[in-house]
Amino acid sequence: MREYFSARLVLMGLGGLFAGGLILLEYVGPDKVMSSQIVLAPAKENNNNNNNNKEIQQVVFVKVHKAASSTVQNILLRYAMTRELSVLLPKSGGVISEGGYSIPPSTVLPHPEGKERFDILCNHIVYNEKEISKYFSDNAPRVAILREPMAQALSALVYYSTVYPKTELLKGRRKFPSDPINGFLRHPQEFQPPNSKPLSSYINNRMSLDLGFETYKFYDSKNNESKIEQFIKQLEEQFDFVLICEYFDESMVLLRRYLRWSIKDIIYLRVNAAPSLPSSSPFLRKPNITPEVKESFKQWDRIDYDVYEYFLTKFLNKLKSEPHFTEELGTFKVIESEVENFCSKDNRNKIVEIPASNWTNEFTVTKQECKVMMTPELSLVDTVRRMQLRRYNNHRRLLASLRDSSNKSSSRNVSISSKQLKN
Ligand SMILES: *[C@@H]1O[C@H](CO)[C@@H](O)[C@H](O)[C@H]1NC(C)=O
Ligand SMILES: *[C@@H]1O[C@H](CO)[C@@H](O)[C@H](O)[C@H]1NC(C)=O
Ligand SMILES: *[C@@H]1O[C@H](CO)[C@@H](O)[C@H](O)[C@H]1NC(C)=O
Ligand SMILES: *[C@@H]1O[C@H](CO)[C@@H](O)[C@H](O)[C@H]1NC(C)=O
Repeated sequence: MREYFSARLVLMGLGGLFAGGLILLEYVGPDKVMSSQIVLAPAKENNNNNNNNKEIQQVVFVKVHKAASSTVQNILLRYAMTRELSVLLPKSGGVISEGGYSIPPSTVLPHPEGKERFDILCNHIVYNEKEISKYFSDNAPRVAILREPMAQALSALVYYSTVYPKTELLKGRRKFPSDPINGFLRHPQEFQPPNSKPLSSYINNRMSLDLGFETYKFYDSKNNESKIEQFIKQLEEQFDFVLICEYFDESMVLLRRYLRWSIKDIIYLRVNAAPSLPSSSPFLRKPNITPEVKESFKQWDRIDYDVYEYFLTKFLNKLKSEPHFTEELGTFKVIESEVENFCSKDNRNKIVEIPASNWTNEFTVTKQECKVMMTPELSLVDTVRRMQLRRYNNHRRLLASLRDSSNKSSSRNVSISSKQLKN
């Protein structure tokens, strides 16, 4: 109960802060305000459908490497779990495709109810609209995320040198053993073997590659302005929404509005954050970023920079055009810190109650839900996989029993186990 009161108090404080402004809308209770004030029509609205306030339950999310995308994935997986949606998942591990865009049906878990189209995508892929459209409806919003490119490349450099070392990066690591960070910023080409395939690298314009930039003559493309422009235009057409890592809470609130989800659906705790390294690790060296280093690195990461700058500008303009955005963002941040505080404490309070406000009905968060929010990426993917496998087998059994009741001779064994899948 104490948790409940502190949440309410903070929100009341916030209310006081804003009490002087905005009496544009008649106050008609949280639900009404929510639907008239904040629900925005998505670009791919199905106009024949009158359910304008219904939440959108299909999302194709491109999990761009090292761009806070594990946190978004956690949100999407939780959403899928609570609504029994179908997530397109690899048969094992967390990656659907990383070295190319094709998604052979034999590599993914079958749809739990035998349907053709899935609801949610949030595991690593290399985006290709044609390939994605085999598994997802055209109406499912396409969502991506971007991060400031130097920060993203450095994060990838550290991750793929320490947590999950790639031989790709070995040459550079050996060349700059005491300060690979600044070695990389000044001589990034040393960290990628000359004839390696673009998709085998995570430090060379990887965000654009994840989003489907053509790999043919990739190294020449950095100098081809028209090609980059064309790519940005393509992204503009294919993607409904590009989130920005540096504005994570803003991104979540925009996503919530866009998909008409509730605040509870977007609360999060950071997952898969930077690895903890021994204090002697050369990967803890501070980057020394002079204007010259910044400029030369921009040339190396040119495609990612152009893409990022374009979508950042677009994102910031979008924020300005959103009604009552600051109020909702403020409320969301208060709720976030309340939830973080509750989840981080090992106390006996099993539940925190978040009071109703202009932006949400009252809701609760349990310790169990904290645990799910803190679950590392691969274990959560595994959990969802097991849930879907169970649904798949139940569905098959049901079909078999239906068949059996009309056809006594059928005796096919239709169950599959997780062991079988790994082969
Ligand atoms: C809630 O909405 C009403 C009506 O728009 C407004 O007057 C009030 O300031 C809002 N409260 C907060 C905390 O934003
Ligand atoms: C640059 O890209 C455009 C568009 O893809 C292509 O037509 C052109 O041949 C490229 N130029 C060079 C020099 O590679
Ligand atoms: C009955 O089962 C057999 C073998 O499993 C199958 O060949 C046949 O088509 C089924 N008949 C019906 C009516 O489902
Ligand atoms: C059906 O398949 C499951 C999983 O592989 C296996 O454990 C079970 O023994 C099989 N049943 C029959 C009747 O073959």
